[in-house]
Amino acid sequence: MMLALNNIGHLVTNDPAIGNGPLGIINNAGLVADDDGKIVWCGPQDQIDQYTEAQPISCDGCAIIPGFVDSHTHIVFAGDRANEFEARMEGLPYAAGGIQSTMMATRAASDELLSLNAQHLAYEALCSGTTTLEVKSGYGLSVKDEERSMRIARTVTTETTFLGAHLYPTDVEQEDYVDLVVGEMLNACLPHAKWIDVFCDRGAFDVDQSREILKAGAKAGLGTRIHANQLQRGGGVQLGVELGVASCDHCTHLTEKDIEALSSANKTTVATLLPAAELCTRSPFPHARHMIEQGVTVALATDCNPGSSYTTSMPFVMSLAVILMGMTPDQALWSSTQGGAQALRRNDIGNLCAGSRADFVVLDAPSHIHLAYRPGVNQTRAVVRGGKCVVGAL
Ligand code: NIG
Ligand code: FE
Repeated sequence: MMLALNNIGHLVTNDPAIGNGPLGIINNAGLVADDDGKIVWCGPQDQIDQYTEAQPISCDGCAIIPGFVDSHTHIVFAGDRANEFEARMEGLPYAAGGIQSTMMATRAASDELLSLNAQHLAYEALCSGTTTLEVKSGYGLSVKDEERSMRIARTVTTETTFLGAHLYPTDVEQEDYVDLVVGEMLNACLPHAKWIDVFCDRGAFDVDQSREILKAGAKAGLGTRIHANQLQRGGGVQLGVELGVASCDHCTHLTEKDIEALSSANKTTVATLLPAAELCTRSPFPHARHMIEQGVTVALATDCNPGSSYTTSMPFVMSLAVILMGMTPDQALWSSTQGGAQALRRNDIGNLCAGSRADFVVLDAPSHIHLAYRPGVNQTRAVVRGGKCVVGAL
């Protein structure tokens, strides 16, 4: 059914051609979507009659923003790591090795349990306004368990990422594991995968192994992305730029040279910042504002996983980005929507341009600034995906 809305107090389109500023904001706006769930028109509400014969639904002056594009999650897993969190809060450091305990719980779980857990987290994300979600494997770490993780991820989203190179499992010789990842495991996961990722860091894979893995994925037709510079400075970001990956994720420990590299590649490679991971591992936050000033394209995502960042909430991530990483509310909104879309190389989402998907959030708030301004408060009145109201009511 065609959808028509008016009395939108503050509409963020991310289309500077149709509204004010870089976010393309229209006040007192109307919006029309077609039967295929695509945006037909956004503009001043007194023009809505030119675009629809339907009686518009009033949004009572609320704000509307494009649906969040969370371009980095690990939601296919079983169990949790509450004990590890508790120990960390007592002073133990975060280390990549914790992945192993989730791997054991994941391998032991049934398909049904893994699916239910992933679906539950995807629904939780949807309820806070996430209309597109990237989902990685990486807690199976065997051919069989990575294949089923990818199969389950594919039931939740089309943005699926093979992350067999998340950690060395202890039951395979380290020398043999990369061969397995680029061989049998990649082949088994390929039918369900759109992307390949590698954890290039201390305690995980080094730069040469990461290059080999990403190149093998690209050769098989997958898009590439990388977990880079999370635990220490290293060559991950430089490798990502060298290979033209869609996104270098984390970027916690960067040198000025890394920032220069990301800036020179800003049309191709996005830096995806995950401040909830810094928060939950008590790590330093990247200087997001400095990166943006240097010309880096920045996305924000949750990194939802049971070890370093167990949250699905993009509004919460926006609060962290603004309050602790120096981003403006406008930058945080752009990076959580259009930035995420760019990290997934999509232009049909993350904005409300004519022809884009009608994916948006009606906020119980007068503007997007309230998202960062009211940390931890649910301000979602309704979520519309593909032109249909899937959470709350219009
Ligand atoms: O993105 N860095 C690697 N992977 C996850 C953490 C996984 C875990 O601790 O279970 C991350 O932070
Ligand atoms: Fe991650």
